[in-house]
Amino acid sequence: MTRLLGKEEPIPYNLLLLADEFVEVIDKYIFDSEIYVYQEGERIIALYALYKVDSDEAEIKNIAVDDEYQNKGIGKALLKEATTRAKEKGFKTLSIGTGDAMMMQLHLYQKAGFEMDMIKRNFYLDNYPAPIFENGLRLKHMVMLKKKLE
Ligand code: ACO
Repeated sequence: MTRLLGKEEPIPYNLLLLADEFVEVIDKYIFDSEIYVYQEGERIIALYALYKVDSDEAEIKNIAVDDEYQNKGIGKALLKEATTRAKEKGFKTLSIGTGDAMMMQLHLYQKAGFEMDMIKRNFYLDNYPAPIFENGLRLKHMVMLKKKLE
């Protein structure tokens, strides 16, 4: 479904910024991540960034679908594919983190088999240059979800 973005290709910040609002935050993980992109023709319309946490665990640091293509099952398919890829690469666990007020994402990830594992307290207060609001709430903590790959 996706292909690995080449090192020489431009980083699709337009999509990454849908999931993570600040370039300086994205730049903390993106150069150490593999970016898998999904295209329609020449246009990249969705992606995820897979990051190696350690030899046992990979993390989806960013997942995004172009606004025009959201809610058509692409995000769900990307999560399934990321799971297969991480397993093929020999990781035992796949993790993903999202904001405490990101209701749709928390729902989507749990439906995809991820379970809440821990909370990175004050993550959005400590790591982001400005407040982020979602569903009328200021993001404060990051909820980490994990899935066993076996
Ligand atoms: N409100 C409620 N539920 C929704 C919504 C919505 N706006 N959109 C989708 N859903 C539900 C769907 O009904 C579906 O549930 P179902 O299986 O019960 O029918 C489920 O979510 C999956 O929907 P998809 O169509 O596969 O989701 P989509 O292709 O839109 O991808 C994604 C989801 C990646 C979150 C996309 O909407 C997006 O890019 N959003 C903006 C960026 C973002 O928030 N990224 C995640 C941040 S966290 C991180 O990157 C680690």
